[in-house]
Amino acid sequence: MHHALITGANRGLGLEHARQLLERGWHVSAAVRNPDAATELAALPVGEGKLDIHAYDAADPASAEALAKGVTGPIDLLFANAGMMAPETRKFGQAAGEAMLQEFRVNTIAPLALVEAFVGQVEASEMKVIALQSSRMGSVRDNESGGGYGYRSSKAALNAVGKSLSIDLKDKGIVVLILHPGWVKTDMGGPNGQLTVPESVSGQLDLIARAYGNPVMSGRFYHVSGQDLPW
Ligand SMILES: NC(=O)c1ccc[n+]([C@@H]2O[C@H](COP(=O)([O-])OP(=O)(O)OC[C@H]3O[C@@H](n4cnc5c(N)ncnc54)[C@H](OP(=O)(O)O)[C@@H]3O)[C@@H](O)[C@H]2O)c1
Repeated sequence: MHHALITGANRGLGLEHARQLLERGWHVSAAVRNPDAATELAALPVGEGKLDIHAYDAADPASAEALAKGVTGPIDLLFANAGMMAPETRKFGQAAGEAMLQEFRVNTIAPLALVEAFVGQVEASEMKVIALQSSRMGSVRDNESGGGYGYRSSKAALNAVGKSLSIDLKDKGIVVLILHPGWVKTDMGGPNGQLTVPESVSGQLDLIARAYGNPVMSGRFYHVSGQDLPW
């Protein structure tokens, strides 16, 4: 049975990843900021070899190490999905400040800390896939509308982290995917998103299945459609 660890699994894309992986017979370890409030997640089949729920705050640098004490055994898919977009950093004139640092903590540093804490368990697994939930807004070349200072730059930095991981972890047989889920109707994406949450997640899981044993996909920035995106 395959085992996934996914962060930010209490709502949006992360919750749906947990749901669809459970439907596919996976064991899912779900990491959320507040387990007591994760009612939709807890309604999924919890139990041995099914779903277990763990506390995790991506903004806390010690949280990945603490999580590693509770999530044991090989991890076939390590999915750094938790992310944030701070409204304060959207517009020029007021963007630089503490909120931007928080975006870097959550969107850039936390995924790296997660990989550093779990790399041994990924290496010990059968599939050995790491997925980083990036965003097309992190593409410098694709930026034609400006703004979004904190979100764009923290996701661009995440892409740089993912590229380095793909090189540094290559000899361990680990494949690192840098993913854009599409513009999705979640709390973050809003109601005008182009994809429903289940559509985006099933597309991402197809890409992840293709990445198994396929090192040529490592260190690339993929749209959920499977197309390469420019850095
Ligand atoms: N929706 C889109 O169109 C879109 C497009 C490109 C990329 N993405 C990326 O996809 C990922 C998931 O986003 P979504 O659309 O599902 O958004 P969402 O519905 O707003 O969900 C965000 C998730 O991240 C978690 N999170 C935020 N800060 C956290 C922290 N400090 N520690 C732990 N968890 C934290 C949230 O937990 P709480 O409930 O506790 O806040 C929530 O589970 C993000 O990385 C986002 O940047 C989304």
